[in-house]
Amino acid sequence: MTQRTVYPVIYDTDPGVDDAMALYFALAHPAINVLGITTTFGNVSVEQAATNAHYLCSIAGRADMTVTQGVKTPWVKAPEAPPAFIHGADGLGNLGMRATTMNRLDPRSSAQYIVDMARAQPGQITLVAVGPLGNLSLALQIEPALPGLLREVIIMGGTVLEPGNVSPVAEANIWNDPHAADRVFTANWKLTMVGLDVTHRVITKLSLFQKIADHHKHPATDTLLHAVDFYSRFYTGLHKHLYADPGCFAHDLLAFMYLVNPELFTLEHGRVRVATEGLAQGQTIMNRRDYINYPQPGWSKDLPQTPVTQVCMAVDAPGCLRVFEQTLMSDWLKR
Ligand code: BDR
Ligand code: CA
Repeated sequence: MTQRTVYPVIYDTDPGVDDAMALYFALAHPAINVLGITTTFGNVSVEQAATNAHYLCSIAGRADMTVTQGVKTPWVKAPEAPPAFIHGADGLGNLGMRATTMNRLDPRSSAQYIVDMARAQPGQITLVAVGPLGNLSLALQIEPALPGLLREVIIMGGTVLEPGNVSPVAEANIWNDPHAADRVFTANWKLTMVGLDVTHRVITKLSLFQKIADHHKHPATDTLLHAVDFYSRFYTGLHKHLYADPGCFAHDLLAFMYLVNPELFTLEHGRVRVATEGLAQGQTIMNRRDYINYPQPGWSKDLPQTPVTQVCMAVDAPGCLRVFEQTLMSDWLKR
């Protein structure tokens, strides 16, 4: 019998409804071993993000999960109010009453935890980051050799051809901390970007979450259904084609989907930089013409600080939905 690879992962997140979908996919998937969760501001404050990460794990029977609290604000730009109209004021669609759970955090900062784990298991860990990139940027500052200590970094963020979701050119995670993001794109790791070019192609229907909740009859999947119901209202109000059959984009889920089913994605390779100021702030700019030696600073080929990023440009959406449904319908909550 062939042994399946199991990927040890640190999940860097700002839960957030699609972050919660992605977390449950990761916990349910037999090829993913979530070692710990690092949190950041973004969809909610970092305090709320850590609380949510702990809560989601606890109600899914994983109260033992290591959770750390990370950066509170962007590196350079002024902080902005979290988007309560998308994820709810609590990040999980305004849950109201929550079950009582222990909320014990690992005392280390998220960046320190990433560094400690990478040093302890060099070359083994995949970092899946689905929020603003301050924790990764700080971890690079603590340990400049970090790129060589991680197996791979997969981020949900950015966009190349698809219009942005917070400005005509910017995606929210990159917009929230463009300086940190540019530092991440210019570090020398194996980096894969899963951005709006693919996440806007995959629509998860509310009816699927209802089916999953009906199947499990469990607080974890009921909570997810509640959160997705709230989040889908935002997307259904925005995209008329969803009126008849409400649904939403599952952005962060696709970062894990890429990890376990990379064959569902079409990649392009190129240098990516982030516009840190001005009208294009937060734009991820990919050099898709590598044979041209652009004379502008930041792009010239001899600059070692602009390594190549793998960018997901197309996706097999029905394939992703099949894997998601199969994984969430499995017996993961009974394990
Ligand atoms: C990204 O922004 C957040 O609102 C989502 O959780 C996702 O990580 C999508 O642009
Ligand atoms: Ca997120």
